[in-house]
Amino acid sequence: MTAQEHSERGIGPEYLLAGRYRLKVKLGGGGMGAVWLARDTLLHRDVAVKQVTTTAGLDPAEARKVRENTLREGRNAAKLTHKHSIAMYDVALEGGEPWLVMEYLPARNLAQAMNIADTLPPFEVAQIGAQVADALAEAHAAGIVHRDIKPGNVLVADRGRELGIAKISDFGIARAKGDTSDNSSSVITGTPAYFSPEVARGDNPTEASDVFSLGSTLYTVVEGQPPFGIDSDSIALLHRVAKAEIYRPNRAGPLTDVLLHLLEPDPSRRPTMAQARDELAKAVLGEQGRFQQLLGSPVYSAEGTVPAWAQRSTPLPDSRRGGRFVGSTVAGLPAVQQGTPLPSVPRPLDRLQWPPRPGSTPKGKSQPTSVRDQIVAWAPLAMGVMISILVLAVIVAVIVLLGQP
Ligand SMILES: Nc1ncnc2c1ncn2[C@@H]1O[C@H](COP(=O)(O)OP(=O)(O)OP(=O)(O)O)[C@@H](O)[C@H]1O
Ligand SMILES: [Mg+2]
Repeated sequence: MTAQEHSERGIGPEYLLAGRYRLKVKLGGGGMGAVWLARDTLLHRDVAVKQVTTTAGLDPAEARKVRENTLREGRNAAKLTHKHSIAMYDVALEGGEPWLVMEYLPARNLAQAMNIADTLPPFEVAQIGAQVADALAEAHAAGIVHRDIKPGNVLVADRGRELGIAKISDFGIARAKGDTSDNSSSVITGTPAYFSPEVARGDNPTEASDVFSLGSTLYTVVEGQPPFGIDSDSIALLHRVAKAEIYRPNRAGPLTDVLLHLLEPDPSRRPTMAQARDELAKAVLGEQGRFQQLLGSPVYSAEGTVPAWAQRSTPLPDSRRGGRFVGSTVAGLPAVQQGTPLPSVPRPLDRLQWPPRPGSTPKGKSQPTSVRDQIVAWAPLAMGVMISILVLAVIVAVIVLLGQP
């Protein structure tokens, strides 16, 4: 159903969807794909409903395939019950179109949080990351890949009894939204800024590409922009992602090494989701800490309170409404074909070549990250100074010796 068909059918506040879910307010999204807060009139509870795709304009066989895709993804998501994942309740058919019915979490997503605080402290981001990674590790163990991890899909409850708790939403929805031909390697669906390089090149999303996307998501909220930067041109961005060149993080502090591990260009060098969770938990709790200590508890600041950005009572500045990120799910993008000549994109000095070439030191914004790095970076300068002092000492000694009677 398109936006126009929605309004023609009277889909709006008070509309009774599939004879059961009364729409209340639109929570976000455009015409198609909008998420509504609704009341389940049977079970008397609030739910979130979302139409992820439409069959308008498709021939009957294609329309059936789209419906089957959505139902399958709904069934997959419904298998998961985890305290850090939005629960899937139902798939409702309205005029033949599938709508997903999910747990409603009064929340801010991380993209919205960044419109309040430009960047979030690594200490808080690591806690959110560990909670979400635990839910994703369970999904992976059940054979389910998320496919669209991004700041807009990480919700943090902003009021009520779950205040400060993080949950991942939109499991498998990228596939339900995508084209009808399954496993097509030339067409991809998702959010380019958070794709892994291999997905940008047309490989099917895997557990390892979820790990990369989680890394990109956490990187974005810590650094204030995604690892490959921002570009309203999805195709240009996709080509940058395929080349695996990221900006070196410079605000991540103790989270830097963990993020770079998640963002390894080679999928086989990335941690598993369970290892990622453990690494994130250690960044918060220290070497002896165990991730279980973070599960089910609200994210807390260094001062030990739920941070202001996560609280409903902290308003979104008017100037920031609408957000500042290009981060929408895009269906049917043409993958970057291996061997296809890549367009020449400008290479600013601060772009990190990753993995670094042996002997090359990152320039500009890129800073050495560890004490060892710093010693390596300063060694040539120190050596030069020492040689100059030595040469000077020899000259002085010669002059003194020659000056003696
Ligand atoms: N289960 C939910 N409970 C409460 N709010 C939700 C829920 N699911 C989504 N939302 C909110 O609804 C809005 C729209 O969500 P939606 O998933 O359409 O957007 P998105 O993930 O940012 O973008 P995209 O459609 O590109 O995936 C967001 O503000 C999101 O935080
Ligand atoms: Mg979403």
